[in-house]
Amino acid sequence: MGENNYLMKAINISKFFRYVEVLKNVNFEVGFNEIVGLVGDNGAGKSTLIKILTGVHNADSGELYWKGEKIANHSVPQARDMGIVTVFQDKALVEQHPIWRNIFMGKEITDTIGFINIKKEKEETEKLMKEIMGFTSSTITPDTTLGNMSGGEKQGVAISRALYFDADLIILDEPTTGLSLSETKKVLSFVERIKNTGKACIFITHNLFHVYAVADRIVVMDRGKIVGNFFMGQISLEELEKKMLEITGTGDAEHFGVYSGRKINPGGLNGTR
Ligand SMILES: Nc1ncnc2c1ncn2[C@@H]1O[C@H](COP(=O)(O)OP(=O)(O)O)[C@@H](O)[C@H]1O
Ligand SMILES: [Mg+2]
Repeated sequence: MGENNYLMKAINISKFFRYVEVLKNVNFEVGFNEIVGLVGDNGAGKSTLIKILTGVHNADSGELYWKGEKIANHSVPQARDMGIVTVFQDKALVEQHPIWRNIFMGKEITDTIGFINIKKEKEETEKLMKEIMGFTSSTITPDTTLGNMSGGEKQGVAISRALYFDADLIILDEPTTGLSLSETKKVLSFVERIKNTGKACIFITHNLFHVYAVADRIVVMDRGKIVGNFFMGQISLEELEKKMLEITGTGDAEHFGVYSGRKINPGGLNGTR
């Protein structure tokens, strides 16, 4: 498959921190409107990989493509301009501010003489929350202060903000860590909204159960390598769990025939036994 078939594609990415190779010839891609679960143990290299996609780190070797075009000199501002947004837990939002201010922070709607159009910002926020993000709690309005919201809801606000400003790729790095089951469910429902709006998402987690329900595909990382690539609907959670234990237990993905090179086979698991 060519680079054009993907929203973003990383080819043969290597990354060293000092002398330690934390990413080893990583091939990773996200399709248009695809929800990719990126799973693996702590230290596998998940965050480092997304920091390369978002221009925080430079790869030591490899190539990045965005909508079929090779990216030269990637950087944080460039990634942002392309429409790649990372949502971190509790970051980039101001607890003391209401939702509407958080949505428009730094990108205010102004009138002709430069005043912030608060009425319009509140209206847009209300529409966004109701129609796009599906906020269900009737106690939450655009005027609700972030500090009064739960962890899952705050992430919903951050995701809403990204969608409002037309992000094409929303990256969630460990969004469910430390959240209760009901809060986790909220985050998952926001991921479903991302899917419904036609955008793409990379959902990073070390908890397979959290991502299985919403992902189109799950990519497994282990010790700096991509060791598994599974299309949902082709594999049960039980099978996937078993595979993951096998892969991460041995580090020998090829042995299990789970992942072979960078070929993606939409018909099922990569590689054949
Ligand atoms: N800025 C850094 N400097 C040095 N080592 C780092 C840095 N960031 C991450 N690492 C190391 O790279 C490896 C992968 O880390 P990371 O990408 O954060 O893994 P994950 O997100 O899968 O838990 C780990 O061994 C980690 O200690
Ligand atoms: Mg991480």
